[in-house]
Amino acid sequence: DKPVTLHELGTRYAAGEKIATLTAYDASFAALLDRCGIDVILVGDSLGNVLQGHGTTLPVTMEHMIYHTESVARGSKRAFVAADMPWASYQESPAQALRNASRLMAAGAQMVKLEGGAVMAETVRFLSERGIPVWAHIGLTPQSVHALGGYRVQGKGEDAARRMKDDALSLQQAGAAMLLIEMIPATLGAELTQLLKIPTIGIGAGPGCSGQVLVLHDMLGIYPGKTARFVRNFLQGAESIDAAVRAYVGAVKDGSFPAPEHTY
Ligand code: KIV
Ligand code: NA
Repeated sequence: DKPVTLHELGTRYAAGEKIATLTAYDASFAALLDRCGIDVILVGDSLGNVLQGHGTTLPVTMEHMIYHTESVARGSKRAFVAADMPWASYQESPAQALRNASRLMAAGAQMVKLEGGAVMAETVRFLSERGIPVWAHIGLTPQSVHALGGYRVQGKGEDAARRMKDDALSLQQAGAAMLLIEMIPATLGAELTQLLKIPTIGIGAGPGCSGQVLVLHDMLGIYPGKTARFVRNFLQGAESIDAAVRAYVGAVKDGSFPAPEHTY
């Protein structure tokens, strides 16, 4: 199978094919996702929650992200590998962001993801113009959980929706390759997707996005903590983990996931 490159993602996006994304943190699951047709594997800083047992992503460090990115990159042969920039590894300055993003790229990432709206546009431009594809993450940004007052739906109401559209446009203008939109009303998810020329990958952002992502441990139903409304357990009724992941890819591609019960 053809390797998934940024160019290939653009081709699939232009053709209206939904982009199926899951997180992974190790070589075995990366290989499993890879053979089951996942387009993009995200080494998420959700590893702070699902691997380390923390209540937030704030304790995750560059050293953790590098270790898991190296592991995933060894396991994946075909899928596009993206890595999260952890808390406080990029907010200080574009130079700090480049220094840390380049370590993730050297570890095997093909794109980095960072949280924040227009305030991060300068940094997105700095990295993009220097050869690092950037996936910008807006809506519920878990690294800002304390500023947001908890894991709550974002972009509700006209003003908040307008601000989010402005954020999305500034990030696109700055050269972001993709946009992650988390936990927002489905109508806003569809509007953002219409507005932009880059793919939107949604998690709790409705079926109108260019693709979907879930945390691996959530979609396998093995995370012991509270799971959000947008999660579906794909292992339920499946005969194996491979079958669950293939069912997820199928449901994203044919638009049957997320269903109304997974949206806001
Ligand atoms: O860290 C992560 O897994 C993420 C996804 C929830 C989008 O950022
Ligand atoms: Na993340």
